[in-house]
Amino acid sequence: MKTLKLGIIGGGLMGREMASAIGRWAALTDAPVRLELTAVCDLVEKVRDWFRAIPTVKLLTADHRELLASDVDVVYVAVPHHLHQALYLDVLNAGKSLFAEKPFGIDLEAATTIRDTAVNLGRFVRCSSEFPFLPGVQRAIRYLQSGALGRVLEIRSGFWHASDLDPTKPVNWKRQVRTCGEIGVMGDLGMHAVHVPFRMGWFPKRVYAQLQKIYTERPDGKGGMAPCDTWDNALLHCDVDIQNAQGVVTDADVPMRIEMKRLAPGEMNSWYIEVLGTDGGVRYSTKEPKTVWIFRRAKEQAWERYDIGMSESAFPVVTGGIFEAGFPDCFQQMLAAFAAEHEGALKGRFGCVTPDEAVRSHQLFTAALASHAEKRAIALE
Ligand SMILES: NC(=O)c1ccc[n+]([C@@H]2O[C@H](COP(=O)([O-])OP(=O)(O)OC[C@H]3O[C@@H](n4cnc5c(N)ncnc54)[C@H](O)[C@@H]3O)[C@@H](O)[C@H]2O)c1
Repeated sequence: MKTLKLGIIGGGLMGREMASAIGRWAALTDAPVRLELTAVCDLVEKVRDWFRAIPTVKLLTADHRELLASDVDVVYVAVPHHLHQALYLDVLNAGKSLFAEKPFGIDLEAATTIRDTAVNLGRFVRCSSEFPFLPGVQRAIRYLQSGALGRVLEIRSGFWHASDLDPTKPVNWKRQVRTCGEIGVMGDLGMHAVHVPFRMGWFPKRVYAQLQKIYTERPDGKGGMAPCDTWDNALLHCDVDIQNAQGVVTDADVPMRIEMKRLAPGEMNSWYIEVLGTDGGVRYSTKEPKTVWIFRRAKEQAWERYDIGMSESAFPVVTGGIFEAGFPDCFQQMLAAFAAEHEGALKGRFGCVTPDEAVRSHQLFTAALASHAEKRAIALE
């Protein structure tokens, strides 16, 4: 089996998650390619030290140029948002494929530059968003593609966190505009919320946004306080024209609500999607990770509850078919989809976020900033 050598730039929370997913690659029984982690770059020595436990890692460095000069084929970059553009472009210019992290640049201009550079250089680039790769969400996506909804009534998709409700939680780079971006929580959680709707072809033509900043300063971890100037919660009320395969609009002005919240009481890491139609509907939330609800309108109307195990993973695994999936599983499934698409072997399965989709997400979030500032709906192309 062919081996793709992967390097990681940024060995923090997500860099380690990547290493963990590659470390149990053998769990995938039908992967078209093997991934091997060979090089890691992080500025912090203690962070780099954790990767010493991984025998395939031959290079640990604080200089990403050294990593890019090595024989890695693919680079996963997981660093603060203000560094995305410079590091992603260095990866592309070094001739490597890129597995990017969201939000794919700190703003629309950065995202567009990264996308256009990848196209001009002919590089393979995808962006991370793992929740659609949970087996339950895969079932929900197949349902959405089946046409069973009938006329689409409304779409809701969101991602909620709760830990920022605690005002004593220290500030970090994700809570400051300089490092996280003006789009704040939309950059942090938004790619997760738009991935499935965008892949279904549901692109907003208009958005009205409600953005909230709740805590404007937080402990700096050194006994003082630091500014916390990003948007905490964002509700995007969108209009979508749904088209059929021939490009004819079948459902006009369908309401689509995209919700991204850092202050959602009781919601530790809740990703959800709900789509309602005249004939059917589907509901999924990571709150009940193996459960998919499907609505049927027959003589009687009913919401049916289905338990979905690992047997419905897009990429088969050794894990028992009735066992439930968790975060490490969907992250590994996403990585399998990246590797398969890299090798031209996705075979119609659901793929990772494309650079075009990432740019579209920035177009939506930029319009949302304008909408909130001007207190009016903003049209999108
Ligand atoms: N897909 C997801 O579910 C998910 C979850 C969390 C974060 N993220 C994204 O992943 C990225 C990283 O977030 P994180 O939570 O892992 O951050 P983190 O702060 O935990 O880790 C970032 C790491 O990057 C290192 N770093 C900074 N500058 C560097 C440089 N020039 N060269 C090498 N290393 C450098 C830091 O030392 C740190 O270890 C962000 O884009 C974030 O939005 C994605």
